[in-house]
Amino acid sequence: MPTVIIVGSGLVGAATALAFHQVGIKCTLYDQVNPVEAVMDGRAIEFGASGGCVSIQAGGLRVLKTLGLLDECIEKGQPHPYLSFSKINGSSQIVADARTSNKKAGETDPKLQTPLQILRSTLHNILMRACHRVGIKTLINKKLLDIKQNSDSVTVTFVDGTEATADLLIGADGIHSATRRKVFGDNLVAKFTGEMGHIGVVNIKEHNITIKEADKASFYVDRDNKRFLAIFQASEDTAAVRVSTFDDPEVEDQSYRPVSDLPKEAGRLADLLHEWGVPDYIEKMMRNSFRISAASIYDLPDLETYRKNRVILIGDAAHGMVPNAGIGLLTGLEDVGTLLAIMLERGTAAANQARNLRVKGMAASPIFGGSLNHFIFRGVAALNNAGLFTLYTLFDCEAEVAKLIQEQESK
Ligand SMILES: Cc1cc2nc3c(=O)[nH]c(=O)nc-3n(C[C@H](O)[C@H](O)[C@H](O)COP(=O)(O)OP(=O)(O)OC[C@H]3O[C@@H](n4cnc5c(N)ncnc54)[C@H](O)[C@@H]3O)c2cc1C
Ligand SMILES: *[C@@H]1O[C@H](CO)[C@@H](O)[C@H](O)[C@H]1NC(C)=O
Ligand SMILES: *[C@@H]1O[C@H](CO)[C@@H](O)[C@H](O)[C@H]1NC(C)=O
Repeated sequence: MPTVIIVGSGLVGAATALAFHQVGIKCTLYDQVNPVEAVMDGRAIEFGASGGCVSIQAGGLRVLKTLGLLDECIEKGQPHPYLSFSKINGSSQIVADARTSNKKAGETDPKLQTPLQILRSTLHNILMRACHRVGIKTLINKKLLDIKQNSDSVTVTFVDGTEATADLLIGADGIHSATRRKVFGDNLVAKFTGEMGHIGVVNIKEHNITIKEADKASFYVDRDNKRFLAIFQASEDTAAVRVSTFDDPEVEDQSYRPVSDLPKEAGRLADLLHEWGVPDYIEKMMRNSFRISAASIYDLPDLETYRKNRVILIGDAAHGMVPNAGIGLLTGLEDVGTLLAIMLERGTAAANQARNLRVKGMAASPIFGGSLNHFIFRGVAALNNAGLFTLYTLFDCEAEVAKLIQEQESK
């Protein structure tokens, strides 16, 4: 039986583990989070709640369906048919129906035509529980130090001095991936864009806030003053408000961190939104947030390949991108879907299926619905990031996985 090490048990790492499990390949997840951040609940591990909301488009939903988790995600998240774009004060709203573009892009399953928003922490929880249910092990306090590989195996060393050896290593360790730096080149580091994001999460029910259907995924822009704001309803009860600013200093090497002084920070950001002249309920959302995360926004240079021998990069480690487009996770889930399709069928049919999956997902990107140039620019950058490179690499991976399985079977 081939064995796989997955470094990073974020959304994409956990989904990858489930995909491997589905095709009968044994894998173990390793993550740097320490036991203080992670809550130990018997044998199951719950990671601390942080971050805001993630959006999942048709291609990503298809992957969740394959993993058997779609219904639970829909139940705990918020399907939203529309995306809207306005000026910062809510005027001149443009509303796009995401279902139409997904249908046009070839998605035939009605359940998958409506994009889904869900709290990142909720989705992570669903994935980690699913891993636990099927017996996938997650080892925490394992910060990657080094990787060595030869023709037979790959060995990873962790900062705590322990090591692990397997047939294949998947680097799912996010935008600051140590796997990428160790194996693909020290120079391949994410660059700070100068942008800082603050995401507040609020219980809208408790605060009597209702969000109109068209505003459940809404973007507000003042290009002249470089102001950007987005609202995402994440469930029946919760919503996230994301504010971008461009004058904060970089917080070294941390994509998302909870802010410590919550009421004060919520007040400061709400006052800022007031000054911007945003609709009242948005200011109220920020003021009443029960958690706020701050993120220095990074972008990653394109890589020529996502695979080096026995090491494959996946998710943000491979194609981390500025998150405005909201398709980072989609792309990561599609990596998982592509891997899975290939592992399941190992033929041209699978390759074509995988190709369609990706083309569909990318074509359905909401970004092309708006008339906002800088979004489109970033969407195009993302397309480029996520395009053929991944596919070619994954085709190599197909051969690699097939070869591994064959080797093992003949033993
Ligand atoms: C705490 C957090 C909050 C986020 N919140 C949002 C949000 O609100 N909205 C949004 O759109 N996106 C958010 N993101 C980003 C989003 O989750 C990713 O873009 C997307 O899901 C891709 O996921 P990934 O699994 O590739 O990477 P990530 O989700 O970044 O996961 C990477 C994992 O690798 C682990 N890791 C990193 N370095 C090492 C190392 N050296 N050794 C071992 N393990 C390592 C990390 O602890 C982490 O668990 C957040 C990410 C994080 C980590
Ligand atoms: C919103 O801002 C625009 C300018 O960007 C202005 O023309 C419009 O009157 C404003 N609307 C309201 C309701 O304040
Ligand atoms: C929300 O509305 C209910 C009923 O109208 C009211 O009792 C409650 O005090 C309100 N809560 C807040 C936080 O405004």
